[in-house]
Amino acid sequence: MQSRCVTGGMLPDFLDDEVVAAWTASGAPLVDLLRQAHTPGRLTGFRRGGRAAVLVTDPRHVHQVLGVGGERYVKRSHRARPLLGDGMLTATGEAWRSQRRLLQAMFTGRGIQRWEHHIAGAAARVVELWAGRARRGEPTDIAEDVQFFTVDTIWRSLTDRPLDRETYVDLAAVQDIVAALPADVGGAAALPPEVGAALAALDERTHRAIAEARSRHTAAGEGAGAHAGDDGEGAGDGGNGNGNGNGNGNGNGDGDGDGDGDGERGPSVLDRLLDAAGTDPAYTDRLIRDELVTLLVAGYESSARTLTWAFVLLDRHPEVMERAAGDARAVEAVLSETLRLYPTGWLLPRHAPADEMLDGLLIPAGTDLLVCPYLTHRDPAVWPDPETFSPDRFPARTPLPPGAYLPFGIGPRACLGTRFAMREMEVLLGELLARFTVETTEPAGEPVFGINLRPAGPLYARVRERA
Ligand code: HEM
Repeated sequence: MQSRCVTGGMLPDFLDDEVVAAWTASGAPLVDLLRQAHTPGRLTGFRRGGRAAVLVTDPRHVHQVLGVGGERYVKRSHRARPLLGDGMLTATGEAWRSQRRLLQAMFTGRGIQRWEHHIAGAAARVVELWAGRARRGEPTDIAEDVQFFTVDTIWRSLTDRPLDRETYVDLAAVQDIVAALPADVGGAAALPPEVGAALAALDERTHRAIAEARSRHTAAGEGAGAHAGDDGEGAGDGGNGNGNGNGNGNGNGDGDGDGDGDGERGPSVLDRLLDAAGTDPAYTDRLIRDELVTLLVAGYESSARTLTWAFVLLDRHPEVMERAAGDARAVEAVLSETLRLYPTGWLLPRHAPADEMLDGLLIPAGTDLLVCPYLTHRDPAVWPDPETFSPDRFPARTPLPPGAYLPFGIGPRACLGTRFAMREMEVLLGELLARFTVETTEPAGEPVFGINLRPAGPLYARVRERA
């Protein structure tokens, strides 16, 4: 490590260029380079292709970049833009703000109550599937089952339509597209041609769903504004707590102050988008498609992988699995600890468009900042014995330092679906653990640090009804 002056500004400890060159030559994943650069408590970094990248892992720095500086450190051309277009995850500035304002209230603790019946219906399907597997003594692929569940819940919530097998196959093929996206910063200019068919099928499904919803809208004789206000939703930025119960707020307004009405069934997300299209020309069919795909991809991938990780960890800790059976608080703690060890959003890149000061250091304009929850969640100063799976850490007895725990991000760009994700995962995991014992038949695959952090391959297990 050495200190360097880069583009006239003082940057922190940098990896020697030779180390970076050796890593590049090895073809190793980005996480290996980050592990080499990482020094707890310090800003470190490296240069690649003439660009400076600063690794941000200390909770104080994380809080500064994503929380306090959340509007100044921006998302550069997003790695997922070729798939997600201009939806909420990739949009910036006023376009992002207005999209977020439109949907925020639907995803608060109270807002998601409208989708309880979708979550319950989707969970019942998996319970029924497992009951059949248990009766016949057949193994099941947990990774596939939880993925079906999360696609089912989000698709029903987005469109108010049940998920059939054919639609599922087309929607789930998104994972091939996601796998083709670069884990690294710098963005993908275009998707590789081999995922063209998957993208076409996805677009066909989403456009069909939009057309169907629009004709329902028109048939209802209401047109634009058909649902505006029918559930009393305000447009204000409501709560978006991070669901871990540890007081590590995300700076986005915690709690349920969403101005929502009865919190019962209301319009679907697609209805809300079509209403917006009636009054705001920005909501073209293209943008509605982008928002739908964004919510679909953001909404199923991470939840499915987190549930899979939870089963991987529980399989290694049968005593925890037993304790969690029938205990909702223990289930929540298992999920929070799973998200600590395997935050699916393991890397949250940002970019400094102008010079910034961070912890007394000048971050020159043009620098990439790599916020890495995966490493932050292993800070021994906050998490003693960090590699150990220990759900007893949750809920934290004393409030965690801001920026220390961020599986859903923090600050203005924190996850819109935190509450939804926690609720759907708690329901499914709770029901499955209460009713079945689970034993994997093959070891879990290695972690893959792509755009998401996922276990490689399927996760086969035998499930048995509890006596
Ligand atoms: C375990 C499940 C989930 C995890 C771990 C997760 C994680 C995250 C993280 C870390 C971010 C912030 C990205 C950044 O700062 O660069 C994010 C953003 C986002 N997530 Fe999630 N997410 C999950 C589930 C969901 C669900 C179910 C939905 C939709 C219903 C969703 C929708 C979004 C959206 C729209 C954003 C972008 C928000 C914005 O930029 O304003 N996520 N998510």
